Amino acid sequence: MIIRATVLDTPDDPFAGGVLRAEDDCGILVEQAGVIGERGPFASVRADHPEEEVVDLRDGVLLPGLVDTHVHFPQVRVIGGLGMPLLDWLDECALPEEVRLRDVDYAREVARDFMTGLVDAGTTTALVFGSHFAGAVDAMFEAADRWGLRITAGLVTSDRILPDPLLTTPERAYEETAGLAARWHGKGRLRYAVTPRFSLSASEGILEACAASLAALDGAWFTSHVNENLREIAEVGALFDGASYVDSYDRFGLLTVRSLLAHNVHPTDAELATLAARGSAVAHCPTSNAALGSGLFPLRRHVESGVHVALGSDVGAGTGFSMLKEGLQAYFLQRLLGEQGMPLTSTHLLWLATGAGARALGLAEEIGDLSVGKQLDAVWVTPEAGDPLAVGLANARCAEDALSKVFALGTTSDVGGVWVGGEPITARGGPSRTGREPVGIRRS
Ligand code: GUN
Ligand code: ZN
Repeated sequence: MIIRATVLDTPDDPFAGGVLRAEDDCGILVEQAGVIGERGPFASVRADHPEEEVVDLRDGVLLPGLVDTHVHFPQVRVIGGLGMPLLDWLDECALPEEVRLRDVDYAREVARDFMTGLVDAGTTTALVFGSHFAGAVDAMFEAADRWGLRITAGLVTSDRILPDPLLTTPERAYEETAGLAARWHGKGRLRYAVTPRFSLSASEGILEACAASLAALDGAWFTSHVNENLREIAEVGALFDGASYVDSYDRFGLLTVRSLLAHNVHPTDAELATLAARGSAVAHCPTSNAALGSGLFPLRRHVESGVHVALGSDVGAGTGFSMLKEGLQAYFLQRLLGEQGMPLTSTHLLWLATGAGARALGLAEEIGDLSVGKQLDAVWVTPEAGDPLAVGLANARCAEDALSKVFALGTTSDVGGVWVGGEPITARGGPSRTGREPVGIRRS
C-alpha cells in the first residue's frame, strides 16, 4: 500500500532543536509487517512501485498515531464529573464506578467503550491504568488485542484508604500480577505495567510487592500518580515519615527508565533531580489538572531539569480522549503562566502528543513519527468540507500554522481513519459521520 497525503510529524525533539517535518503530496510505502519502506514525493514513490494499491488521503493531514501516556480504563463512563478536587472526585465519581468492574461482563462493556474512545480520538498507543480486578484487566487486554492497539497496562493495586472491594494484599497483588503478565506481557502489541494506584493508597508492603514484580518481569513498565494535589501530597508526607512523594517510590527502587508518573504538578527541585537521574518520565495531564483544580504544571522546570514529559488524557478526570485537546490545553496553560511558562508552538504540541510519548514508553524505535523503518501508526485528520478546520487548513499560512489549526479546531469527528502497524482500525466501521467511504475496518 502507498499512502498519499499531506504528512506532518516531529522526528526530533523540538525542546532540543527539532523542527516540524511537513510534506505535501507525500507518498509512504507500507510494507508487509506494517513497516514504512519508503517515503518521499508521491510521484517518485509511485514510480518505484507502480503496482501498489494507493490510499488517497489528500483531503486533510496525516499525523503519527497519537500516544496517551496516562488514561484510566475503568473511568470512561465517569468523564465530565466537574466541580470537585481530586480526593472528593475519587470518592464521588471514580471509585464507585471502579467497584462495578468486579463484574467481568460489565468490565467487558466498559472495555469496548474504552477502545472506542481511544480509536475515535486517533490514539494508537497508550499507557493504561487498569482495574483493581484481575478479571477486568483480562477483559481490557482481550479487547486491546482484538482491536490491535499498542497498550501497556496492568492490575491497579492498593491496600488502604480506598473502598474495601478495591483493596488487596501484597501477596495477592504479586500472584495476580504474575498471572496477568504471563497471559499478556509481550503478546502482540501488549505489555505489562506494574501499577500501584498512588502511594497514598499503597503501603510499604504493596510497594515492595511491586518491586518484586518488576524484578521478575523482563521489560515491564512502572506507572503511578505523583504530586497531583496539595492535600494528597501532605497526606503522603505524613504516611511516609516526611519523605517526598517521589521518594515514596524511589526508596523501593521503582523509578527507572521504564517508569512514568502522572501529573507532578507540585514537585520540589530535589524531586525533579531524582526523576532526571533515574530517567523516569512524567505524564502531563492538562485537562485533568484544570478540571480538578490540581494546579499549574511547571513544564519549564521539568524541561530545564532534564525530565522527559509526554501528554496524558487522564480520562476520566480529564475531559475526553482527544490528545489534540490535551495539547491545546497544555498550550493555554503555558501562555497563562506568563514568564514562568514555556511558550509552545504547534510543533511542540505534536511532539508532546506523539514522539514524546513514544520515547517515554521506550517505543521510539518503532513509532512516534512516520520515518522509514518505523511502523505505520497514523491518524488521518480530515474535516468535513465547510467545517472551520477545513477552511483553516485551506487558508493556512504555512505548515506550522496548519498544525496550529489542527490543535485549535480538531475534534474526534475529524478523525477519518486510524492505522496501527499498517492495519486500518476504525471504531465506527460503516460509512463515517462525514458520509465519506470508510477507510478502515471494524475490529470489535
Ligand atoms: N490519584 C489516584 N487515583 C487517581 C485517579 O483515578 N485519577 C487521578 N487524576 N488521580 C488519581
Ligand atoms: Zn490518573
